[in-house]
Amino acid sequence: MGCMAISPAARVVRALVLVAAACPVLGYVPNGGAEHRRSHGAARTYIVLVEPPPAAHLQHADDEAAHRFWHESFMQDSGGGGAPRRIRHSYRSVLSGFAARLTDAELAAVSRKPGFVRAFPERRFQLMTTRTPAFLGLEPDQGVWNETSYGEGAIIGFLDTGIDEKHPSFRDEGMPPPPAKWKGGCQPPVRCNNKLIGAASFVGDNTIADDVGHGTHTTGTAAGRFVEGASAFGLGAGGGTAAGMAPGAHLAVYKVCDAQGCFESDLLAGMDAAVRDGVDVLSVSLGGVSTPLDKDPIAIGAFAAMSKGVLVVCAGGNSGPLPSTLSNEAPWMLTVAAGSVDRSFRATVRLGDGEMFEGESLTQDKHFSSMVYPLYYSQGMNYCDFFDVNITGMMVVCDTETPVPPMSSIQAVREAGGVGIVFINEPDFGYTIVLEKYYDLPMSQVTAVDGNKIMGYAMKGSSTSNHTATIVFNSTVVGVKPAPIVAAFSSRGPSVASPGVLKPDIMAPGLNILAAWPSEVPVAGPGSYSFNVISGTSMATPHVTGIVALVKKAHPDWSPSAIKSAIMTTSSAVDNDGHKIMDEEHREASFYAVGAGHVVPTRAVDPGLVYDLGVRDYAGYVCKLLGEAALKTIAGNASLTCTEIEPIGAAELNYPAILVPLRAEPFAVNRTVTNVGPAKSNYTAKIEAPKGLSIKVEPAELEFTEVKERKTFTVTVSAAGASAEQKLAEGTLSWVSHDHVVRSPILVDSSITLS
Ligand SMILES: *[C@@H]1O[C@H](CO)[C@@H](O)[C@H](O)[C@H]1NC(C)=O
Ligand SMILES: *[C@@H]1O[C@H](CO)[C@@H](O)[C@H](O)[C@H]1NC(C)=O
Ligand SMILES: *[C@@H]1O[C@H](CO)[C@@H](O)[C@H](O)[C@H]1NC(C)=O
Ligand SMILES: *[C@@H]1O[C@H](CO)[C@@H](O)[C@H](O)[C@H]1NC(C)=O
Ligand SMILES: *[C@@H]1O[C@H](CO)[C@@H](O)[C@H](O)[C@H]1NC(C)=O
Ligand SMILES: *[C@@H]1O[C@H](CO)[C@@H](O)[C@H](O)[C@H]1NC(C)=O
Ligand SMILES: *[C@@H]1O[C@H](CO)[C@@H](O)[C@H](O)[C@H]1NC(C)=O
Repeated sequence: MGCMAISPAARVVRALVLVAAACPVLGYVPNGGAEHRRSHGAARTYIVLVEPPPAAHLQHADDEAAHRFWHESFMQDSGGGGAPRRIRHSYRSVLSGFAARLTDAELAAVSRKPGFVRAFPERRFQLMTTRTPAFLGLEPDQGVWNETSYGEGAIIGFLDTGIDEKHPSFRDEGMPPPPAKWKGGCQPPVRCNNKLIGAASFVGDNTIADDVGHGTHTTGTAAGRFVEGASAFGLGAGGGTAAGMAPGAHLAVYKVCDAQGCFESDLLAGMDAAVRDGVDVLSVSLGGVSTPLDKDPIAIGAFAAMSKGVLVVCAGGNSGPLPSTLSNEAPWMLTVAAGSVDRSFRATVRLGDGEMFEGESLTQDKHFSSMVYPLYYSQGMNYCDFFDVNITGMMVVCDTETPVPPMSSIQAVREAGGVGIVFINEPDFGYTIVLEKYYDLPMSQVTAVDGNKIMGYAMKGSSTSNHTATIVFNSTVVGVKPAPIVAAFSSRGPSVASPGVLKPDIMAPGLNILAAWPSEVPVAGPGSYSFNVISGTSMATPHVTGIVALVKKAHPDWSPSAIKSAIMTTSSAVDNDGHKIMDEEHREASFYAVGAGHVVPTRAVDPGLVYDLGVRDYAGYVCKLLGEAALKTIAGNASLTCTEIEPIGAAELNYPAILVPLRAEPFAVNRTVTNVGPAKSNYTAKIEAPKGLSIKVEPAELEFTEVKERKTFTVTVSAAGASAEQKLAEGTLSWVSHDHVVRSPILVDSSITLS
C-alpha cells in the first residue's frame, strides 16, 4: 500500500511510482502492515503480551529489573540461544509484555510458557502554525489563553520523529520548572530545560534529533512558543507571529520514528515510558490501517493510558475521501480529521482573455507577472512526464493524478525550456489543494474545475501559439471563505474497528499548515528553512492535543472522556460563511468526514455539560463487541471480566455522538450528562432533524441544582418517512441553557446493524 491509499487499484502503474514523491507532504501515512524490519532469516519482531509478573517477584509496582527478568524468562529455552539479548523493549506501564525478534518455532515455544497471553507481528507505520491560533479564536492575553496561562504546567507527550530542540519555538525563557509529579527526564546527551522536560529515543539511536521534520512540526503546532515574524520561503504566516495551541505547556518527546518509518514495538515503548513519566496528554500523528481493537497494540496501549487519566489524541488517517478508511478508531481515543484554514498562498492564473483563476503556490516570484507567456497544453503530454517538443519560454499546463504534483514533472518542464507551470489538481481532490514547496519554477496549483477551463482556453481554436497566460503571485491572503472545508485526504467513517461509534471525533486544521521545521532538514533545493508548510491529519492532531492541554489545565480533575466530550460538544458545525461545513467537493460534509465538527478551543474549556465515560464503560463495550478474551488482552487487568461487567452495545455507550440504524421502527438510546457548568442550570433540548427523520428526547428539559449532578435522558429516532434508497440521515441534539450549547451529532445509517 502506498502513502496515500486513494483507491490505488484505480490508478495506472505510473501513478504508483509517483506516490513516493507525495510522502513527505502528507506527513502521516498508514502502511499496509506487510513490511517488517530486521527480517533476517525467518525471524520478525513480535509484540508479546504476557501476564504481569507474580507480585512476589516485585520489590515495588514499577520494578523495572523484575519486569525485564520476567519477560526474559519467556525467551529461555525458546530455541534461540542468547535469547535475552533479543528483547528489544520490555513494557510495564501501558501493557505487560515485551518486543522481541522471533522465528515461528521460537514464537511457538514462547507461546507455550505459562503466563503467555497473545503475540502480534509488529507492523510498520509511516509518518502521516501560525495562522491557526487566530483562526481558532485564540488571542494573546485574552479568553482561554489568559484563563489557562497558555497551558502553563500541562505536559504534552509526543510520539514522533524527534525534535529540533534548538528551534526558537522551544526556548524556555520565563517557563516554570516541571510540576512535582513529573518522573521523566532527558536521555543524554540531550539536556532538559523548562520547555523540553523529557526526551528519549526508542529507535536504536542515542539522539532525539529530528531528521524528518515531522516531529518538530507537530510539536511546534501543539506547544510552540511565540516566534515573531515567522515565515516560510518568504511567505508570511498571515498574522506574523507563530505560536502553538498551548505555548505555555511543557514538552516530552519520545522518538519512535525515523526516516525509515515507525515500528509498532518502538511506538509502544514510547507510550509505555510517556505514561510512566506522567504526561497529561499524548499526541500520536501516525498509525496503521484499521485493525480489530484486540489486535492493535496502539489501541491496547491507549486503553491503559486512558485508565491512567491520559487522553491519547490520534490522526484519523490520510486515506480519504473514500469511506471506511480510518485509522486509530478505538472509542477511548480522540480521532482527528483534517480541514482547511482561511489562508491561501495565492497564485492567480491570468489568461490572455482576462479570465482569472485563484490558484495557490509555495513558490512565488513577484516579477513573473510583468510578462505574459505562451500557454502550452498537449493531450498527449498532459502529465508532463516528457516533452518531445520545444517549449522554451512557455507556460505549461499539467494534469496531476497524485495528491501533490510530482517533482519529476517539474524537472521535465524545466529541461524542455518551460518557464512556469499550471498544475491541475487531481479530480478526486476537488477544492483541496495540497501544497508542496518546489525549487525555483514559478507555478500555480489550481482545482480540477478551474483547470478544465484553463485547458479549454489553451486548446481553443486552431492555433495554440496565440494563447497566453501569466501568474500573479499575491503572497499570503487571509480571511478566505469558505473555511474550513474537509481536506480530501482526511479519512472517513464509518469505523471498521469500532462499528457503531461515530468516528472521526473532531476536525482541526490540517491542510497547508505552517509550523516549525529543523533547518538542517532540506525542503526543496538549496537554502534552509526554520518553518515549513505541510499537510495531513498528522498536522490536525497536534492542534487538538494542544487544546486538550488547555482544557486539562483549566480542569485538572476531568477524565479523558470528559475532556473529549467538552471538545466535541462545543465544536462548530458551520464554516466562516455561516453554512454547514462542506467537504472537498463543496457538498455538505457528512459527520463521517468532520465528526462532531470543527474544534473551537475558546468554548472547549467551558462546555456546560459533559458525556463522561470510565474504564468500566469501555470494558463493557469491548465485552459486547469482542468478548472476554479480547477484554483480557485490551485491559490486561484480572479484576475486569465480562461476567462481572455488564456488556454495553455501541449505541448505549455514553458517547457525545449518537449513531443508530436507519429504520422505520423507533430506536431508543440513553445518554447521561454531568453538569460541569453553574450549579443551577436549566437546559432545553433543541432538535434538528431532516425531513423523514423523527428525533424525540425525553425528558426535553433538564434541571440541575448542583455541580457534577448527572441526568439521564432517552433519544428515540425513527426514519419512518425516509425513502427506501436513503442510506444516511443526519440530525443534531443540542442542550441549550442561557449560557451554553451542548451539541451532539445524530447519524442514522442503514449499514449499521445494532441489536
Ligand atoms: C486575564 O486573567 C486575569 C486573572 O486571571 C484577569 O484578572 C484579567 O481580567 C484577564 N484579562 C482578560 C483580558 O480577560
Ligand atoms: C527552442 O526554441 C528557442 C526559442 O524559440 C530556441 O532559441 C532554441 O534554440 C530551441 N531549442 C531547440 C533545442 O531547438
Ligand atoms: C490572437 O490574439 C489577438 C490579440 O489578443 C486577437 O486579436 C486575435 O484575434 C487572436 N488570433 C487568433 C487566431 O485567435
Ligand atoms: C492581490 O491582493 C490585493 C490585496 O489583497 C488585492 O487587492 C488584489 O486584487 C489581489 N490580486 C490578485 C490578482 O489576486
Ligand atoms: C484493575 O481494575 C480495577 C477495577 O476497575 C481497578 O481498581 C485497578 O486499579 C485496575 N488495576 C490496574 C493495574 O489498572
Ligand atoms: C433507557 O432508560 C430507560 C429509563 O431509565 C430504561 O427503561 C431503558 O431500559 C433504557 N434503555 C436501555 C437500552 O438501556
Ligand atoms: C430552572 O427551572 C426551575 C423550574 O422551572 C425553576 O424553578 C428554576 O428557577 C430554574 N433555574 C434557573 C437557574 O433558571
